Amino acid sequence: MAYIEIVGEKQLNGEVNIQGSKNAVLPVLAATVLVNGITKLNHCPRILDVYNMIKILEAIGCTVYWEKASLVVNTARLNTSTVPEVYVKMMRSSIILMGALLGRTHSVTITYPGGCTIGARPIDFHLGAFQDMNVSVEEEDGLIKCTTAGVKGNDIFLKFPSVGATENIILASVLADGKTSILNAAREPEILELCKFLNAAGAKIFGAGSERIEIEGVDYLHSIEYTASSDRIVAGTYLAAVAGTGGEAVLTGIGSGCLQTLIKVLREMGCSILSGEDYIIIASSGRPKPIPFIRTMPYPGFPTDMQSQIMSVLMMATGTSKIVEEIFEGRYQNVKEQIKFGADIRIEGREAVITGVPSLTGCEVYASELRGGAALIIAGLMAKGKTTLYNPYFIERGYEDICRDLKQLGADIRRVS
Ligand code: UD1
Repeated sequence: MAYIEIVGEKQLNGEVNIQGSKNAVLPVLAATVLVNGITKLNHCPRILDVYNMIKILEAIGCTVYWEKASLVVNTARLNTSTVPEVYVKMMRSSIILMGALLGRTHSVTITYPGGCTIGARPIDFHLGAFQDMNVSVEEEDGLIKCTTAGVKGNDIFLKFPSVGATENIILASVLADGKTSILNAAREPEILELCKFLNAAGAKIFGAGSERIEIEGVDYLHSIEYTASSDRIVAGTYLAAVAGTGGEAVLTGIGSGCLQTLIKVLREMGCSILSGEDYIIIASSGRPKPIPFIRTMPYPGFPTDMQSQIMSVLMMATGTSKIVEEIFEGRYQNVKEQIKFGADIRIEGREAVITGVPSLTGCEVYASELRGGAALIIAGLMAKGKTTLYNPYFIERGYEDICRDLKQLGADIRRVS
């Protein structure tokens, strides 16, 4: 059984380059299905979720291969609109292929993705929007079958600015008949990135990054080479790690633009942060100040994907902090593992009260999801003695090589197979 071993209480110092963004490349890889030709995606991270997306694209007839750090996708021979169940089970975000397949083949069959460790995660907004766009949606025995004589543009209002639903609607609209307007659209940087990619391939999308996105259908998208941005959550995780252990680190390949809310919190904790267009420098003296109130919110609010990592840092704060998790109700499941380090965390509904303790002690912990797993690594880096983390697979879904990166910053960490 593979595991990660950490000997904690070492300050992190040095420089690390940030990998390509998981949440940016997954929708872009889905979007390649709409491209009439070849897509070359530079700075594509080598993570499990990308490997799974490659397997899905191959299973539906596409040719996919690596050219160094670039992934090349040719969808000319796409021959089915059925997404194999095994991959939907492995990677919930494969539902992002629905919009793209509807645009390309006018049909899609996919297994209902169900919930996951971080929450129920329904897809009612996605399916409701498709229905408003002339798509018939049938659900039977856990299978969702969508068919259309042609996707038609419409005005779609989202009750909540869902990232995945916004992406799926954009993907379904790009080759649709007429204009689609998404109202209360998600504003995450990854939405902007998907639209940048699609526009560069010939789509007509306006307003990405705002609450109202308008898409005018076009006839086809052409071949394209595109470079993905760096992963803001991976960068945020390493910033949190330095905040927790103390030290001084430089992250390269990423600016602070999309990390403003997190950086504000890190500064309140007592960290010094400097940044330029493609670097962030953080310096921390160790035990952070507590944060009275953090509420996770859609972008530009505090990201839910950074909640667990910041909680780990606050476990050693010099006072009491409060977090309210507004996006995914199941994210506190990770707390039972964080407590094993000797942390004082009380959960009531969506609220977590974290009373900092002077030291944490290394222990055996089990990752059960991606960001929660990264949070356990941070706790291990802060703790006295040895920590063994099982199920590293969950972390590898989104981090190319977290042990390599943290070792480069001076951590005593290794993966044992
Ligand atoms: C994406 C990100 C994930 C991030 C999340 C929120 C990817 C691959 N994943 O997930 O890392 O944590 O955004 O920033 O980009 N909801 C519904 N019905 C729907 C859709 C969503 O009720 O049809 C709810 C969800 O249960 C959740 C909230 O809306 O409470 C936000 O979910 P959403 O923004 O859709 O997250 P994902 O796209 O799944």
